[in-house]
Amino acid sequence: MQKTIKKIGVLTSGGDSPGMNAAIRSVVRTCAYHNIECIGIYRGYQGMIEGDFKEMGPRSVNNIVNKGGTVLKSARSLDFKTPEGRTKAHENLLKAGIDALVVIGGDGTFTGGLLFNSEFDFPIMGIPGTIDNDIFGTSHTLGYDTALNTVVEVIDKIRDTASSHNRLFFVEVMGRDAGHIALNAGIGAGAEEILIPEENLGLDRLLESLQKSKASGKSSSIVVIAEGDKIGKNVFELKDYVEANLPEYDVRVSVLGHMQRGGSPSCFDRVLASRLGVKAVESLLEGKSNYMVGLQNDKVNLTPLEQAIKGKSEIDRELLRVSDIMST
Ligand code: F6P
Repeated sequence: MQKTIKKIGVLTSGGDSPGMNAAIRSVVRTCAYHNIECIGIYRGYQGMIEGDFKEMGPRSVNNIVNKGGTVLKSARSLDFKTPEGRTKAHENLLKAGIDALVVIGGDGTFTGGLLFNSEFDFPIMGIPGTIDNDIFGTSHTLGYDTALNTVVEVIDKIRDTASSHNRLFFVEVMGRDAGHIALNAGIGAGAEEILIPEENLGLDRLLESLQKSKASGKSSSIVVIAEGDKIGKNVFELKDYVEANLPEYDVRVSVLGHMQRGGSPSCFDRVLASRLGVKAVESLLEGKSNYMVGLQNDKVNLTPLEQAIKGKSEIDRELLRVSDIMST
């Protein structure tokens, strides 16, 4: 017997990303469009355990489409990893009359949601929100496009000073264990080398490539390195290693850090968020559950949550080739 959905809860969890607010806005307004209630849950699953809820009508999400971060806050919840915590959360949802959940976050968020569904048969829909773009089943996660533009803008600024001082810069970017940010922003910013976990360049090849750059007349270079890269040294040790082996290079390091998570979402991310929010709510109203809404070939689609969690977001090999050629 299909459950009648009259009230939907929405939460954000894991690392925040630009576009999360636009997704919250879309979920809230799609609920209002279908004359069902929407409840905002603060601080992810921890707020669900604490009953930190707020009714959200269409006006409550005015002027947030362009705001980075998440008005519902985010948090990682150790309590939700316990059966007692999840039971408490379920009791709070029932008490509030919430019939289904939209969870916005990364694979950790989806894992928690799937477990919750398996224990309480509670309808769940996932929206991929992370700058890492490391989720199977979607070409873009919310925040990824904005993060790329942020990183490219910063590297352009670093290039000004690198070329003024004939320096080599190692620029470390986020992405957790994935190299999507490094590869795409590296190509976009014209980096001479891009180091990603999916492709181990190796230290010797890096030195050789840098020597070739110098010999070809490049007076400065930018090497973009993904934080999850496995070249075997952290970015500061890498600097020391290159200075020791290529004394002709004056080397500096710039770790971009959490600025990549902030900023006003790009138009792309705002439109994506709006599309995914509509799809998530309407899929729940159609009686669907345990899916992630995503974008594939510019069409919004559904991927079983289990696949989204277990699948791998592969690096585009054609981009690797483009990166090599651009380093000529
Ligand atoms: O998953 C998003 C992300 O920004 C990763 O790129 C990064 O490694 C991680 O979160 C940082 O986590 P925290 O915000 O807990 O330091």
